[in-house]
Amino acid sequence: MMQIIHFNDWELLDAYAAQTIINKIQEKPNAVLGLATGSTPLGIYAKIIEAYRSKEVSFAQTTTVNLDEYVGLPAEHEQSYAYYMKQQLFSHIDIADDHYHLPNGLAENLKAECDRYDQLLEQNPIDIQLLGLGHNGHIGFNEPDALLSAGTHAVQLKAATLEANARFFSSAAEVPKMALTMGVGSILKAHTIILVVRGADKAEIVEQALTGPITTDVPASLLQTHPRVIVLLDREAGRKLK
Ligand code: GLP
Repeated sequence: MMQIIHFNDWELLDAYAAQTIINKIQEKPNAVLGLATGSTPLGIYAKIIEAYRSKEVSFAQTTTVNLDEYVGLPAEHEQSYAYYMKQQLFSHIDIADDHYHLPNGLAENLKAECDRYDQLLEQNPIDIQLLGLGHNGHIGFNEPDALLSAGTHAVQLKAATLEANARFFSSAAEVPKMALTMGVGSILKAHTIILVVRGADKAEIVEQALTGPITTDVPASLLQTHPRVIVLLDREAGRKLK
């Protein structure tokens, strides 16, 4: 079941998403949050930090698992997702150092790292998974393909994704070509999913993902099979929907 909510401005969308997460932590302090990177969740993390600062919520018992990480970037690299999460959220809240998790893109044995991450996900069932949407319909780094993987795996990033993410690097050549990502099976196991999409450039893929056929060519279309998805759209991203 997809509940689609349209927002006239980002501020309200961010507040709504943050409040949904805060409510969950207030009701279940040891909840497991599935977190995303990219530009989409930045305002949501800012609102969560505000709520923490005003003592509305504590993350002392909360565990988080991130969707994905580039292969080959050290955690200190400004574009690694580990760095992003520290900067945008973890260093501002009271989450314990051993309670947040990302795939390790520097692991020598990527297969073993994927297995480790799958075990971690098994032990920490996700209460709420925050998701952004790639222009080509990817979720996490599950790129459009004939076949999708259920579990954590290494992926070769598509040209469109490399291009989209090049804006964060000093040159396109610097964008890592590979990433580790949670699989669609793990994403779909989350109790509740919050899919957040902004911007006119995503209106087309929003329409395909939410109302088109369920196909591995649009990995986000698999979300149509999930019982509890909340879709938060700004006006531009939602303009092709009725
Ligand atoms: C990135 C990330 C995704 C993210 C998506 C959209 O490549 N791996 O997790 O949701 O692409 O990014 P943005 O929010 O910057 O548009």
